[in-house]
Amino acid sequence: MNDITIHSDLAKFLAEQESKSLLRFLTCGSVDDGKSTLIGRLLYDSKLLFDDHLSALEKDSKKHGTTGDDIDFALLVDGLEAEREQGITIDVAYRFFATEKRRFIVADCPGHEQYTRNMATGASNSELAVILIDARKGVLTQTRRHAYIASLLGIRHVVLAVNKIDLVNYAQDVFEPIVAEFKEFAKDLGFTNMVAIPMSARFGDNVIEKSPNTPWYTGPAFLSHLESVDVDTALAEKPFRMPVQWVNRPNLDFRGFSGTIVGGRVRKGDRVVVAKSGRESTVKRIVTMDGDLDEAVAGAAITICLADEVDISRGDVLCEPTARPEVSEQFAAHVLWMMDDELLPGRQYLLKVGTALVPATISELKHKVDVNTLEHLAAKTLQLNEVGYLNISTSRPIAFDPYVENRDTGGFIVIDRFTNATAGAGMIDFGLRRATNVHWQAMTTNKRLRSAIKGQRPAVLWFTGLSGSGKSTIANLVEQKLCNLGRHTYMLDGDNVRHGLNRDLGFTDADRVENIRRVGEAARLFVDAGQIVLVSFISPFRSERRMARELLESGEFIEIFVDTPIEICMQRDPKGLYEKAQAGEIKNFTGIDSPYEAPELADIVLRTVEKSPEQSADEVIEFLRDRSFIV
Ligand code: ADX
Repeated sequence: MNDITIHSDLAKFLAEQESKSLLRFLTCGSVDDGKSTLIGRLLYDSKLLFDDHLSALEKDSKKHGTTGDDIDFALLVDGLEAEREQGITIDVAYRFFATEKRRFIVADCPGHEQYTRNMATGASNSELAVILIDARKGVLTQTRRHAYIASLLGIRHVVLAVNKIDLVNYAQDVFEPIVAEFKEFAKDLGFTNMVAIPMSARFGDNVIEKSPNTPWYTGPAFLSHLESVDVDTALAEKPFRMPVQWVNRPNLDFRGFSGTIVGGRVRKGDRVVVAKSGRESTVKRIVTMDGDLDEAVAGAAITICLADEVDISRGDVLCEPTARPEVSEQFAAHVLWMMDDELLPGRQYLLKVGTALVPATISELKHKVDVNTLEHLAAKTLQLNEVGYLNISTSRPIAFDPYVENRDTGGFIVIDRFTNATAGAGMIDFGLRRATNVHWQAMTTNKRLRSAIKGQRPAVLWFTGLSGSGKSTIANLVEQKLCNLGRHTYMLDGDNVRHGLNRDLGFTDADRVENIRRVGEAARLFVDAGQIVLVSFISPFRSERRMARELLESGEFIEIFVDTPIEICMQRDPKGLYEKAQAGEIKNFTGIDSPYEAPELADIVLRTVEKSPEQSADEVIEFLRDRSFIV
């Protein structure tokens, strides 16, 4: 059986059964806990398998012989997994099945710690989590992790599947303490409904039907619970939200805004508002592939035409005027970090919120959460799989709802700017400040005035390079030359910044990021004051140099790479620091045990081996003349 057959079969199958309600759930646990066996049994017993696959399965089970003459259900699921891995690379396997009463989508997430990100992906659109526990092992670290992440991602319904109960002789006194321990841990996780079921996935106890082996268990069998649990998410009753995916404008007569409704409903004639601009209009048409509609509800992909010409683009959110989302450029959020490189406060990342993509920095990491104890721990960075609570500022305002109110408009993805990889998943808590851009507009006008008084164009000359490369020597010469030309300058370097403003920072990656972030912000203020600013820091990371560049208007930031090979810097060693670093007396020394990322597209590259500092300084002056910063 391959995925295509499953899907085409399902398309038909699901179409026939549209009237049944749909439950999306995820299973957390490892193969060892019996997860594959459990899913295999559900699929098998709900008769969604093809006969030839079944006979293959029976053959395989006999061949591998892990379960005697019984069918090994784990082989079934693991087989599907292998197929999936060959084809498309998704991290979460979604499986579909149905019973007389309900349709189901199962997100199957691998259990090991490093797969937390997959679990987050699966959890973000599930309504219920099945947390598997091996009755012999009880509540483990991974159990707590799964419960916490499920809760963080908004899941309110949990089934605690205490599996392999056959291996502990169906003993109630093994089952009860496990449930009690889990309940104690989960008491503050906000689960509104938690059902614990003793089961044996392998032998089918309490999976599809109640088992005679656990007469003391009074609750439902697993499948009956899944069929009847009320997970009413009432998304359709929430305020109307539609993030605009694209503006559909095939010709001059048609202009529609396409997207998927992620909250509430919309009718022809309704008033809607664009969250950020506050512009309102009336819904003239609701267009779909199957013709126009009078009303559409959450989940529908539609195109809305408005009665008025309103300026709307991708990333905007159409909303109900009486229940608007928050609009802010600062908010508090939980973030689950998914990248090997640690999260660094101060570094710039991209945030995908709904259909909007904005540059953002973590302005403060308030704490991280110990997933075993739920304790808040002080932290400077977040490592892979860690969860932190932080303040984020975006480079322009975004529209959002708190995640607890709407997972679609309150959730976001953090993207690494260099690799474009998903770096984290976030859940917005609340906004910290209302958006205002009036202030910055006023600044821009004043900046022009200030610069005009000085008769110059402000700029940042950003010198980057290894310690001992000659940055400061050259920057000092350039500053002298500029002063001689009557220019108003200011120098930011380790001497004046690291001893004052940044006295609290050392040389770890996190501290260097913060060092450069503050230097970048300070440089921006000086540019705003109309100055030509010379910045001389190692500034080893591309990310922060880029961030400093993006704080300024185009052309104002001039990156100067003082390109001196490390061997030469080590020979020069003006402060004797390389010697100490090599002797292990100084830690995290750039070029020795801390990285330097050379610029890829510097505006000026100064090869100091070939020229004197004087010649290098002249080269910078020439560049400024060419670009008419000086005449
Ligand atoms: S940066 O990486 O954060 O940009 P910065 O330019 O401020 O570094 O400081 C570098 C200067 O600090 C070096 O020229 C050197 O004199 C001194 N220094 C002390 N410890 C270190 C270290 N571990 N790595 C690099 N420079 C160090």
